[in-house]
Amino acid sequence: MRQTERIDNLIIDIFKNSKDNFVSGQTLSNKIKVSRAAVWKHIEGLRKRGYVIDSIPSKGYRLVEIPDRMSPDEIKGSIKTGIIGKDLLFFDEVDSTNDIAMDSGAKGAAEGLVVLAEGQSHGKGRMGRTWVSPKNVNLYVSILLRPDISPPHAPVLTMMAALSTAQAITDVTGLETMIKWPNDILVDQKKVSGILTEMNAEQERINYVVIGIGINVNMKNGDFPENLRMPATSLLGCTGKRVDRMNLLCTLIETLERDYEDLRNKGVMSIFERWCKRCDILGRHINVSLQGEVITGVAEGFTPEGGLIIRLDWREKRVIYAGDVSII
Ligand code: BTN
Repeated sequence: MRQTERIDNLIIDIFKNSKDNFVSGQTLSNKIKVSRAAVWKHIEGLRKRGYVIDSIPSKGYRLVEIPDRMSPDEIKGSIKTGIIGKDLLFFDEVDSTNDIAMDSGAKGAAEGLVVLAEGQSHGKGRMGRTWVSPKNVNLYVSILLRPDISPPHAPVLTMMAALSTAQAITDVTGLETMIKWPNDILVDQKKVSGILTEMNAEQERINYVVIGIGINVNMKNGDFPENLRMPATSLLGCTGKRVDRMNLLCTLIETLERDYEDLRNKGVMSIFERWCKRCDILGRHINVSLQGEVITGVAEGFTPEGGLIIRLDWREKRVIYAGDVSII
């Protein structure tokens, strides 16, 4: 451990032992055996790392808030899964966790690898969009799977991930979640999570699939860009309270593992039927923007391959596999 980190940790331990009481700069300097100027420098360093530390000249310093950071060791110690999360790659910042997971898949990484990052510099959304990925507030996670299903059935994996994500959010926050076709998770008609699935496949078989899940957890509503395609919010925005990201991540991994077991043991329909019940557009009059075209009709149903069946306004039926839906 570097000297700076060692002293930072000593200061944090002293704060924790003193509960909510102030600790003078002199006490810190005596206990750690560094000058008072050095204590001040370390306090400033801790503040830059997100620690909130009060200071009053006559009293000293007091730790008010510890930054919300995830730790791979804690995650591994908390999850009780056999496949998903058995291997875990954790990064402070990456371009995209999906890219890392796809690379790992190409290099032969085992099924269940979880790639997690505190921030993404080039987070990827559906249809070539960007996924806003500020550091230390949200969840950016990609899971590598090697499922024994045929390529046309691959969309069921996105459905499964949407179900698991919606359920994990509800279990941790108590919020009611809906799935908007094809894979947005909504609370009160606002997007809190999105899923991007990428795969490497041949005609007959899937080599590997990466399911990338982004959840807006503790991002403040004012921090979302203004030009988003649809209204977005975070779990903090919905509940008014910060949500424990570690708890949400562990719940998500465990829920995904259960749903993946269901898919493997009971088949595609077991996921498909549950997913249909959670979808909010059945029977609704909708607009769908396809690339360069907008169609209007009633959402009649889904195909097990993830297609949306629309009865168009002039009564003809059409099945579409990608697009942006808005309810009229
Ligand atoms: C969407 O709704 O457009 C899909 C968003 C998917 C975002 C996640 S964040 C983790 C993973 N890494 C990425 O670059 N994208 C996905």
